[in-house]
Amino acid sequence: MYTNNDMKIEIIYIDITKIGNKADAIVNAANETLLGGGGVDGAIHRAAGPKLLEECRTLGGCKPGEAKATKAYNLNNKYIIHTVGPRYWSDPNPEETLYNCYINSLKLGDSLGLESIAFPSISTGAFGYPIEEAAEVCVKALFTYKPTHIKRVYMCIYPNRDNLEIYDRTFKNYQYKIINK
Ligand code: APR
Repeated sequence: MYTNNDMKIEIIYIDITKIGNKADAIVNAANETLLGGGGVDGAIHRAAGPKLLEECRTLGGCKPGEAKATKAYNLNNKYIIHTVGPRYWSDPNPEETLYNCYINSLKLGDSLGLESIAFPSISTGAFGYPIEEAAEVCVKALFTYKPTHIKRVYMCIYPNRDNLEIYDRTFKNYQYKIINK
């Protein structure tokens, strides 16, 4: 468990579609069309059901680094926050885009008055972001953000257990650096 002001951050090994109402919102690692895909995107659309795609069609897509919210339908959450991570090899500034994914999803969650949000490891699958570098960006965003309502963040690592250790180590090192600055 890590703490940024009064926002508690927990890294857990779980399929994000199974976290249930512990998280007011789950974040989807989508693409610019918001019309579904594989990985997390596919799992969330399968679990939420066809009404999710119907709503997504009304959103007009989403730019990399930005975030848009929909209802969660058959999922046991209040919202799904869709964000589009950087394609690591083609995004001109993948670090900035990934940072913005986390910050803009948190800002959107706060604007909706949410108290808890669950993230997947954005861009580290099909979009090819090296996991260690992505974890560094994630940590920087989660520790820099100043929450207004959000009290709990879950980093949902799945299915590769090695990524759990990588995220945990990255968070631990960052928190150690802050405490011993
Ligand atoms: N719960 C949590 N994490 C998951 C799940 C799940 N159910 N399924 C996969 N993951 C992990 C992957 O192992 C990876 O570490 O989420 C991370 C992100 O992988 P992707 O889902 O491939 O997302 P991303 O790399 O951001 O690529 C997005 O892939 O699915 C398409 O439509 C999506 O075009 C978009 C692209």
